[in-house]
Amino acid sequence: MTDRTAPAATPLLPAIAARWSPRAFRDAPVPETTLARVLEAGRWAASCYNEQPWAFIVADRHRHPDAFARIFALLSENNRKWAGAAPVLMVACARTRFAGNGNPNIHAWFDLGQATSAMAIEAAGLGLQMHQMAGIDRARAKQDLGVPEEVDVAVAIALGQPGDPASLPEALAAREVAPRQRKPQSDWVFTGRWGA
Ligand SMILES: Cc1cc2nc3c(=O)[nH]c(=O)nc-3n(C[C@H](O)[C@H](O)[C@H](O)COP(=O)(O)O)c2cc1C
Repeated sequence: MTDRTAPAATPLLPAIAARWSPRAFRDAPVPETTLARVLEAGRWAASCYNEQPWAFIVADRHRHPDAFARIFALLSENNRKWAGAAPVLMVACARTRFAGNGNPNIHAWFDLGQATSAMAIEAAGLGLQMHQMAGIDRARAKQDLGVPEEVDVAVAIALGQPGDPASLPEALAAREVAPRQRKPQSDWVFTGRWGA
């Protein structure tokens, strides 16, 4: 398989360099203990006031095929071209109000992102990968998955071991092996004030 390790400008923690977003997945279940470990990494993320406003609706294709199909049906047409091969699909949600006083929590999505990122890095350290997807019908997800009014559906996530790019439609297979690219730090790291 192609090496997808980030061609980073400095050395990185190995799991950070190893994380990427595959579209091809091996047809190998994620053991329950491994899934629990990935989610535990999210549990220990930082959050505003330690509110932990994230929630994940998880569906294992082998253990809960109906729940998996329910999430799969919410994905955009493009994401449905590949995500059905993943052994696990999740829907990541953010509680938009503080539990204590009901005030809006404008950091809820930020905190959900931190939990998701920690999970993605933990997964990469274990030889798994996560692929986040904005391409999900968020309104229908709320309805079909019984998500409460004050909770936002943010993204869907595919989780599993990366697979053979040849299993993908041609255009997607090419993207699977294309060089990984990032903006240089000089584009977004400023000293003291914006743009400097
Ligand atoms: C919030 C978010 C939404 C994304 N939505 C999609 C999506 O709907 N479909 C898709 O194929 N990839 C999606 N991606 C994956 C990105 O395209 C990918 O992370 C980016 O190209 C960088 O590649 P890497 O994760 O392999 O480093 C999404 C990623 C994030 C973080």
